[in-house]
Order: sequence, then C-alpha cells, then structure tokens
Amino acid sequence: METDTPGNESGSSTLDPQTQLYKKSMRRLLQPIQKHLDNDSISEVMINGFDKIYVESGGKLHKTLDQFKDEESWEAAVRNITQFVGKRLTPENLSIEARLPDGHRVHIIQAPAAVGGTSVAIRKFAQEKLDIEQLIKFGSMTRQCAEFLGIAVHLAKNVIVSGGTGSGKTTLLNCLSSMIPADERIIVLEDSTELQLQQEHVVQFEVKPPDAYGRGGISMRELFRGTLRMRPDRIIVGECRGGEAIDMIQAMNSGHGGSMSTAHANTPIDALARLEVMSLMGGVDMPLSAIRAQISSAVDLVIQINRFHDGTRKLTHVSEVGDVDEKGRSTVRDIFTLAENADGDERLQWTGNQPELNKQVTRAKADLAIDLTSEFWR
Ligand SMILES: Nc1ncnc2c1ncn2[C@@H]1O[C@H](COP(=O)(O)OP(=O)(O)OP(=O)(O)O)[C@@H](O)[C@H]1O
Ligand SMILES: [Mg+2]
Repeated sequence: METDTPGNESGSSTLDPQTQLYKKSMRRLLQPIQKHLDNDSISEVMINGFDKIYVESGGKLHKTLDQFKDEESWEAAVRNITQFVGKRLTPENLSIEARLPDGHRVHIIQAPAAVGGTSVAIRKFAQEKLDIEQLIKFGSMTRQCAEFLGIAVHLAKNVIVSGGTGSGKTTLLNCLSSMIPADERIIVLEDSTELQLQQEHVVQFEVKPPDAYGRGGISMRELFRGTLRMRPDRIIVGECRGGEAIDMIQAMNSGHGGSMSTAHANTPIDALARLEVMSLMGGVDMPLSAIRAQISSAVDLVIQINRFHDGTRKLTHVSEVGDVDEKGRSTVRDIFTLAENADGDERLQWTGNQPELNKQVTRAKADLAIDLTSEFWR
C-alpha cells in the first residue's frame, strides 16, 4: 500500500513503459497549457472551458490567451487524464481528484455539474516546497511564532491547520511535520500524495477509489484504522474531509498525540465546527455535545492561514483549544493574531495570553531549543 512520492515520478527513466506512454500522449493533448505546467513561477492552472484558461502566479490570477483547439480536443485531454489515473467520470461520478505523472494535483468537474462545460484545476507540484524560513521571510509568520509551533510539535500537541482553498494549508502542514523529531515513526495519509517529509522513518499511504465495477479501493477511514495497528508515533492526515474526522479525534484522545491535519474553515472556531460536522458524517452514535467535548479535548492547537487579495498567505490566528464552556460551546484562546503593529503594518503578534503549553515546557523542563528567558516566555 505504500505509495511512491510524486518526486520519484518526475525522472521518466523510473517510469514504467505504460506510464511513459501516457506521459507522452498527455503532453501532446495538454499542449495548450504545457508551457504553464513547465513554468515554475506558475502555481496553478485553471481551465474553465476549452477557450478559458487562467493561471496563478505570485498569488495572482491571470487570464491567458491560450486555448484548446475546440471542445472536442479539450474533452479528449480530460479523458486521457482520467484514463491515466484509472478513474472514470460517469453520470454518477461527476467529479474526480487525481495526480498527473509529474505529480501535479488535478481536480475535474464535468457537466452538468460544471455548467459551462468540463472544468479543471491543476495545482502544480512544487519540486521545492517552501520551508519555515521562507514562510518567515514572506511575512506569513514570525520567528517567535515559528518557535512556539516548534515547541508544540515537540510536545506532541494535536494540531489542525485551517484555511480556505489554496490558502497554504498543505505547505504549512509540510513545514510543521518537518519539525517532528527524526526518531519517530510517522504515518502519512492523503487523498493524493502531496506532503514531502524529510525524515527517515516515514510511511505514506494514499486513498484509492474502487474500480469501475466497484471492486477494490481503500477509503481514508479504512486506511486510518489500518494505520492505528501499525504502531505510528505520529499520524498525519493530509486533509480531513469526512467521517475519518471522528476516527482521528478518537485516536488523538486515546494517546496518539502529535497528530496533525488540515480542514477547510475560516476561523479556528469554524474549524472545530467543521470537525463536528465531519464527525457526524462518520455516523457515530453519540450526541453532538459528546462529540464537541471530544473534539475540544483532542485538538490542542488550531492554526488559521488565509490568502489575501494581494496574493500573500499569512497566519491570522494561532489558537489553543479550551474546554467547552458552561453553555456547551467550543472555546479557543488566541495566542497569536494578525494585528496592526505600532508602524501600521499587519503582523502576526502575541496576544499576551499565556499559552497553556508554556506551563508544560516549564514543568517538563523540556530539552527544547527555546530561550526561556526571552520576554515572550516570561
Ligand atoms: N506562506 C505562503 N506564502 C506564499 N505562497 C504560499 C504560501 N503557502 C503556500 N503557498 C503557495 O500557495 C499555493 C497553495 O498552497 P497549498 O497547496 O499549501 O494550499 P492549500 O490550502 O493546501 O490548498 P488546497 O485547499 O487546494 O488543498 C502553492 O503554490 C504554494 O506554493
Ligand atoms: Mg491542500
């Protein structure tokens, strides 16, 4: 079940003959957008119809003048992609997610769900993932915050990265996972492989849908349950989208500390609400209040990242999750928020709230590379 990383696929000499053949025909069929796929400064290519092609570069969207010859050649290109990934678009299955030979992630939605015709978004696979130093340099976070997050990861806190589409969740999750100590066994579960961990002991799993006859395949939930029996020190779920949320929450509560995942939400409180909805999708026989309490005790930290109009991505909140309050509502305690500083610049700043985590650092006298005498930690 172990999947190879996208990076391994880029050298065509390592590809089997059938994949090489697909790669060749794909290049031919995707010719109108190939230069964008080959251009490292472009991060996303969006095709809304054969003559409407957009790209994202530097965080900004641009319409290009490129187009496919006609509707038919566009449909042929899409068919080729679906054949390559072994998935089928049918009247029952109008949308698929897959990975191209170069590791690019592709989402396809077809008519009638796509009103203007088959619509595709390709998230480019970046050979060089951004690291935490670059995130600091871009102003996405501060060094102080990076230090805090590093400690949270070392103390095996359970972390959810929350944000909208394309806000930088996977990139941030990748950075956080790079802080996991090298001697831990890390199991990564993804819908399609994106994360690139540098540690020695990493096992990556990828969801596989059943074939056209409904045979085979393995879901995120099945993978998750299998993972629990494989002695993970850390479980990383690329993105929580459905019923696997409740499995993850229960695992977090039963001693699988240091787990991490991402969720689509706009605020930390929203992220907890999303986890509730997803847990309910898991079909557990438990009242909502119990699910909420489980989530509050399982998740230690929510990191919110947003994409701004100028194309930048910034953390807007780093919040510790508290207990449910007397009215049964989820609570969070913001440790860092994006706020204007004295110079009028928007910067991620410490709110002044003492993190619970800091008490543990002091108690455990943990051997962590932090400066406990710095003002922040007093
Ligand atoms: N902090 C950042 N600063 C600048 N660019 C970033 C930052 N984080 C991510 N990016 C870029 O933004 C794009 C989207 O990033 P990423 O895939 O991490 O987002 P995502 O939230 O996981 O997206 P999705 O919702 O589609 O899964 C990538 O091209 C990535 O290189
Ligand atoms: Mg992502």
